[in-house]
Amino acid sequence: MFTIVNREEMAGGTVILNEIEAPRIAAKARPGQFLILKANENGERIPLTMAETDPEKGTVTVIYMVVGKSTELFKRLKVGQAYQDVIGPLGQPTHIEPGRNVVCVGGGTGVAVLHPIARGMKQAGCAVTSIIGARNKDLLILEEKMGRASSELHVCTDDGSYGRKGFVTEVLKEKLDAGGVDQVVAIGPVPMMKFVSLMTKDYGVPTMVSLNPIMIDGTGMCGGCRVTVGGETKFGCVDGPEFDGHQVDFDELILRLRAYTEQERCSHERCKWEEGGNA
Ligand SMILES: Cc1cc2nc3c(=O)[nH]c(=O)nc-3n(C[C@H](O)[C@H](O)[C@H](O)COP(=O)(O)OP(=O)(O)OC[C@H]3O[C@@H](n4cnc5c(N)ncnc54)[C@H](O)[C@@H]3O)c2cc1C
Ligand code: FES
Repeated sequence: MFTIVNREEMAGGTVILNEIEAPRIAAKARPGQFLILKANENGERIPLTMAETDPEKGTVTVIYMVVGKSTELFKRLKVGQAYQDVIGPLGQPTHIEPGRNVVCVGGGTGVAVLHPIARGMKQAGCAVTSIIGARNKDLLILEEKMGRASSELHVCTDDGSYGRKGFVTEVLKEKLDAGGVDQVVAIGPVPMMKFVSLMTKDYGVPTMVSLNPIMIDGTGMCGGCRVTVGGETKFGCVDGPEFDGHQVDFDELILRLRAYTEQERCSHERCKWEEGGNA
């Protein structure tokens, strides 16, 4: 159980794909839902979205950026090794309304979270225009898969090393100016989701975002993933992770995500140092 059956490195080894044996989760999972994974007995519980599920094979796939200690430990797991715990599917599945004209906007590893949603929307008969972006060509992921999940795909890089030079919001503005957009889905870094939501509010286009607050238990008990939406406290793990972007207090989320930055940095450094010592 929870054995890694396929492993790929992307974006120069900074983004990892793990396909994991988890038949019961694969049978129940829906687009937009996530897992909480633990590498070993002493590991932290880390939430990751299911980028793919294969009920026939009995596997789920996660794609994550190596940002700190726990994702560094995940990266060290090889094919044939197993995660100690995988809990899911967690969170509310994406609400998909068939036949809509949807623009899906993804940034960085947010594209991994966006992919099953775009594909689910296309399968439900939506016209899906996707706009994906990364800081540079090497950090861009899942271009081919997003192409298959969309009727139209636009690629942007901040430095112009691939696709169009500039932010995803520039292409989004052109689409909104052209009119006929029923819904926008934005998933990526919090500032990106904030600016997309500010823009679509001006156009009166409903916008769904997928939030990544710090999570601990994933069951609505600990309160770690509190977010303010429409002036009310919501829990990202059970009420989300998807919310109305026009109602989210993004500035508060940014502050809460920064709360443990120093401890996280020290823990990551120690982990890398210990690995170096063991090598
Ligand atoms: C519902 C959900 C789905 C997610 N899906 C993906 C995904 O598909 N791919 C991906 O790359 N990332 C995803 N994330 C973010 C991922 O969980 C964090 O990057 C990861 O927890 C970092 O752990 P770390 O120990 O390696 O880094 P740390 O050094 O601990 O932290 C680095 C940064 O990661 C964030 N973070 C740390 N711990 C948590 C936590 N328990 N919960 C949430 N964020 C945390 C913080 O912003 C922190 O500043 C998701 C988060 C949530 C809440
Ligand atoms: S993670 Fe504990 S309440 Fe959501």
